Amino acid sequence: MRQVWIEKFGRPEVLKLREAADPLPGPRQVRVRVEAVGVNFADIMGRLGIYPDLPPIPVVPGYEVAGKVDAVGAEIEPDWIGRDILALSRFGGYADTVCVPEAHLVTRPPDMSAPMGAALPVNYLTAWQILEVMGGLRAGQTVLVHSAGGGVGLATLQLAKRVGAQVIGTASTGKHDALKRFGLDVAIDPAREDFEKRVKELTRGRGVDLVLDAVGGNTRRKSYRSLSPTGRLAMFGLSAAAGGKRRGFLRLLTTTARVPWFHFHPLRLMNENRGVFGVNLAHLWEEIDRVNGWMDALIGCWKRGEIAPVIAASFPLDRAAEAHHFLQDRKNIGKVVLIP
Ligand SMILES: NC(=O)c1ccc[n+]([C@@H]2O[C@H](COP(=O)([O-])OP(=O)(O)OC[C@H]3O[C@@H](n4cnc5c(N)ncnc54)[C@H](OP(=O)(O)O)[C@@H]3O)[C@@H](O)[C@H]2O)c1
Repeated sequence: MRQVWIEKFGRPEVLKLREAADPLPGPRQVRVRVEAVGVNFADIMGRLGIYPDLPPIPVVPGYEVAGKVDAVGAEIEPDWIGRDILALSRFGGYADTVCVPEAHLVTRPPDMSAPMGAALPVNYLTAWQILEVMGGLRAGQTVLVHSAGGGVGLATLQLAKRVGAQVIGTASTGKHDALKRFGLDVAIDPAREDFEKRVKELTRGRGVDLVLDAVGGNTRRKSYRSLSPTGRLAMFGLSAAAGGKRRGFLRLLTTTARVPWFHFHPLRLMNENRGVFGVNLAHLWEEIDRVNGWMDALIGCWKRGEIAPVIAASFPLDRAAEAHHFLQDRKNIGKVVLIP
């Protein structure tokens, strides 16, 4: 099999394709011949050496794949063999073959292509957890989503529209027309205009009901101030720390220093009637049954035509470095996938 390894931290070119013997599934695992791999911003943070969850290098990144099962472990029913699936993988996904626990498998609906299947799990589960499980987004409410043109951003847009919410999104200017065609109500380029001021103008000073902030740094403080009374801030990433393509501890330090660690004082939260919560899907492996319930709901949304991942670009597995450049150059509108 072929795998893409992070052997050292740094520019996208540190990603190296290596060959290895085909793995054998463990007793409760299946082996998947991978047809598409989802690329996530966490993979970039991992490559830069600033992702705390990354196992020690050398490591094969990759949280999600779609493909076909071709072998099963001793304790798994053989009728999985030959099925088209999508799966969460806890690293190891940048490969043409991967073994995953049966508990992480989902049968792919017949009309869902492998790239669509690989684009769905991480982005849509994250958006579902924030909007439906923790953020309580309802019809008539307004949500502000940063990086609205990204994988999580577009998943959020579709799931928010599904419940009848208004969506304000921040994104680079070049993405605004496309995002409006996808249903975004208002687009703001945070590099050109003060999003906090604009949100206040748009909501007549009230603020929004929910903010999705995976940018961090200075943005987080402004996101909090953009909330209405009873508004909720979801914190789920720190993409501001990935400023350059090389490893840069200075940026990580300055971005981390700008995190408003002491801003969310309990008295302040009470008096302002605001909520703040955190999300890290990768820390829910022990609650996989719960996550699978969310996945069932998402497959239902797919079957009803309420969601459909947007594929921004696909790259051959051996050109994973180009995929990382593409994301870091902010060129994506939607999900980037690798094709083995
Ligand atoms: N906690 C969790 O469970 C979880 C799960 C999934 C994702 N996340 C986080 O959610 C965020 C979005 O993830 P994603 O995979 O959907 O990626 P993505 O949004 O597709 O990431 C790329 C986009 O992010 C924007 N961006 C913001 N800061 C950037 C920077 N420093 N460098 C390059 N691009 C930057 C750019 O769009 P614009 O130029 O248009 O702003 C870029 O096109 C990431 O921070 C990720 O770590 C967290």
